[in-house]
Amino acid sequence: MKPASRAVHAGRDLGARSPLAPDLSPAAVHVFTDLEDYEAVASGEKPGHFYGRNSNSNREMLERAVAELEGGQAGVATASGMAALHGAILALAPKPTTIVATRELYGGTSALLRQDLEPAGYEIHFVDLTDLDAVRRAIGDAGLVIAETITNPLCRVADLAAIAAMARERGVPFLVDNTFATPLLCRPLDLGATAVMHSATKYLGGHSDLVAGVIVGDALTMGVARARASRTGTPLGPFDAWLALRGLRTLDVRMRRHSENALILARAMRSLAGVARVHHPLLEDSPSYPVARRLMPNGSGGMMAFDLEGGRAAVQRMIKRFSLATFAASLGGVETTISYPEITSHRSMSSEERAELGVGPGTVRVSVGIEDPADIVADFTQALS
Ligand SMILES: Cc1ncc(COP(=O)(O)O)c(C=O)c1O
Repeated sequence: MKPASRAVHAGRDLGARSPLAPDLSPAAVHVFTDLEDYEAVASGEKPGHFYGRNSNSNREMLERAVAELEGGQAGVATASGMAALHGAILALAPKPTTIVATRELYGGTSALLRQDLEPAGYEIHFVDLTDLDAVRRAIGDAGLVIAETITNPLCRVADLAAIAAMARERGVPFLVDNTFATPLLCRPLDLGATAVMHSATKYLGGHSDLVAGVIVGDALTMGVARARASRTGTPLGPFDAWLALRGLRTLDVRMRRHSENALILARAMRSLAGVARVHHPLLEDSPSYPVARRLMPNGSGGMMAFDLEGGRAAVQRMIKRFSLATFAASLGGVETTISYPEITSHRSMSSEERAELGVGPGTVRVSVGIEDPADIVADFTQALS
């Protein structure tokens, strides 16, 4: 099946009288009449569910669907993207080691690395992953490499295939946060990554109405992640899994439209008054353009950013003037939203650290929605006029 069809059908086996949309199964526990039957289900010998923290039919369907879309053997769905990230890190690097992570990491991820893993003995090296020589130098003594397909907020794209090859050569696991691209636009496992994680809160769900995460990888690693998720109590609840799967069914059409709209807005914004710089990986003058074209030939999704002259005061004026776009500290929904990294995704960094990354007081991240592009461009144009 082609990816668009897979998004529609993945994760389920329909037979005669199957519900076409999955039933919602909120049961915390299932009843058994035979002790041996319970033992067989609880040990995984037989399919079925016995307790909601261990497994659930809605969660299982979502896990199978995302694993199928990413081209992995198995998936684990968690209560948030952060739980997925933490679970993936502990599955790939269970003992304190050196983690090489992209310098432009999502703020929540760098907070997890610094505030939870560093005190536990992990050493974190933040590296510009678009600089392959720097990666080669850093990877030597690493126990894990973490990258994002498209960085947050400046939308840079590192050569994941080259990094995966270096990691593989040295036997270092490579984890990719594929939240911004989704498996419809990029499949990091095909490029050589060991595992992939998602904040399904974003594009996979797609409607800003749930918080969820998913990890995908080989069956052994996912077995480890699943067992720990059960022990630590981080699995995704049934209704959020049901909603995420409902959203996933339209992923292909949404990602096409997000990709088209973001490129239209990025091009239009280059000539708007007060816009100093526009960041979009598929703008020809982006430093990431050649790599992004190669890794994401069908588009790069709805994320872009721009730097506004006049800093925070100018950003505030723009927000007050919006009639279609809104300020909301998330991304990946059908509506066009903006985020202000200084006080949202990157608030745990100092202003010096943000400046080093190129994130200034005028940096605005846009999650371009699926509205008519003419309306989106018109709203930014009037808001900045
Ligand atoms: C790239 C990326 N990864 C991970 C996360 C964390 O996901 P969640 O908020 O679902 O825990 C986010 C959230 O904004 C994100 O943008």
